Amino acid sequence: DAKTFQNLISHAKEYGYIFQSSEIYDGLSAVYDYGQNGAQLKKNIRDAWWKSMTQLNDNIVGIDAAIFMHPTTWKASGHVDGFSDPMIDNKDSQKRYRVDHLIEAYVETLEEAEGKAVIAEMERLLAADDLAALKQLIIDKNIKCAVSGTANWTDIRNFNLMFSTELGSVSEDANTIYLRPETAQGIFVNFLNVQKTGRMKIPFGIAQTGKAFRNEIVARQFIFRMREFEQMEMQFFVRPGTEDQWYEHWKAERLKWHKEVLGTPEEKLQYHDHVKLAFYAKAAVDIEFNFPFGFKELEGIHSRTDYDLTQHQTYSKKKLQYFDTEINKNYVPYVIETSVGLDRLVLAVLSNAYAEETWKKEDGSDDSRVVLRIPPRLAPTKLAILPLTKKDGLPEIASELMAECRSEFPCFYEEKDTIGKRYRRMDAIGTPFCVTIDHQTKEDGTVTIRYRDTMSQDRIHMSEVKKLVQTACK
Ligand code: GAP
Repeated sequence: DAKTFQNLISHAKEYGYIFQSSEIYDGLSAVYDYGQNGAQLKKNIRDAWWKSMTQLNDNIVGIDAAIFMHPTTWKASGHVDGFSDPMIDNKDSQKRYRVDHLIEAYVETLEEAEGKAVIAEMERLLAADDLAALKQLIIDKNIKCAVSGTANWTDIRNFNLMFSTELGSVSEDANTIYLRPETAQGIFVNFLNVQKTGRMKIPFGIAQTGKAFRNEIVARQFIFRMREFEQMEMQFFVRPGTEDQWYEHWKAERLKWHKEVLGTPEEKLQYHDHVKLAFYAKAAVDIEFNFPFGFKELEGIHSRTDYDLTQHQTYSKKKLQYFDTEINKNYVPYVIETSVGLDRLVLAVLSNAYAEETWKKEDGSDDSRVVLRIPPRLAPTKLAILPLTKKDGLPEIASELMAECRSEFPCFYEEKDTIGKRYRRMDAIGTPFCVTIDHQTKEDGTVTIRYRDTMSQDRIHMSEVKKLVQTACK
């Protein structure tokens, strides 16, 4: 709910996960920085995706294309003309709103069935590009959520979402270039480079992770909708006529990945078929996650036909074709795309992991904690090594264990504060294992290992620690 979500946002800041960008200057809207724990969590999710795509498939390779691309790229891709959102201005408050966000905010105030009907109507009008009827819907429903006072609207207009800047000197011949609004185009323009140098045979895929930029007008819901964000995209090139089968394949594969690799519970995931298709798509489905503010898009799987390669062929006047030796034919391949937002995955993992817990202790008094139950393989720090006291040679033993483990996985060393306080801090950061070195360790080499999720403790030999953590974090 809203309160838990606010608590999660505060928690993410307090424990070094996510800060507002340029916070000392009061922040920059819809831009965020990842702190020491957030950056590591994000990297772990990115690595898991990269491994699933490139290492575990014979026929998918990874690239890293530049953010800046030749301006004609965005003409060819359709983004210059078609990548826009319908916006409406409130004449009284002089504020601008994205039409779909305005309607979504209104729907949140309705009963579920009524809300669904309004959303369906909105999607129908958006698909038909009937902006006049859409404006009438806003007036008829008297939609003025987040708008103070009366709602005196302008007509609805389309605004391009791309950021532009100038390449070269500030002169008349300087070229307008764009910050890429999706990473996908860097893959399309390199299709032949990779196919030829990698001797790739269709069907094959090219994967990439990297920053993308969109001038989102309404920025809401923390890192859900940002102006600078990271995408992880894979374009799968197939023989024309086989695209429907590959679309079904990747739709199923990607849902499985969220469940099996990220450990997302099945009931928090669902498919949502697109009614309004993007300008490049033949079929499209979202994988939605149940965020604290409801089911929302996490990933898109799109059947993009030969749209992009054909467009680039036309604009560049270079052939972007493949000779298929199995059928002795030249063709422009069809493309199935999987596209997921890395920041949205971080938010999904955090909101899934975040828990405020209270319970009764043995003596009848209350106890509580906030814990991040992040799956061990994704947790930023895997193991905390805690000497019970700062003396009697305990820090020295702890340092030995630290030296043994830190080359294998991220560890954290802490000797200040009571052991109880240190455990709570590790719970709050989401560290799955804590090991305490005490006086008995000096006698028999055993340590206490404490498990984040159950708070239970075991006594094991120090030599077993590394293996145990490695196995759990695989
Ligand atoms: N190449 C296809 C493409 O870009 P998209 O549905 O516009 O498709 C794909 O974006 C994914 O990128 C989304 O599912 C979402 O996870 C992420 N994404 C898009 N816009 C975003 C934003 N403003 N902030 C954070 N993530 C965003």
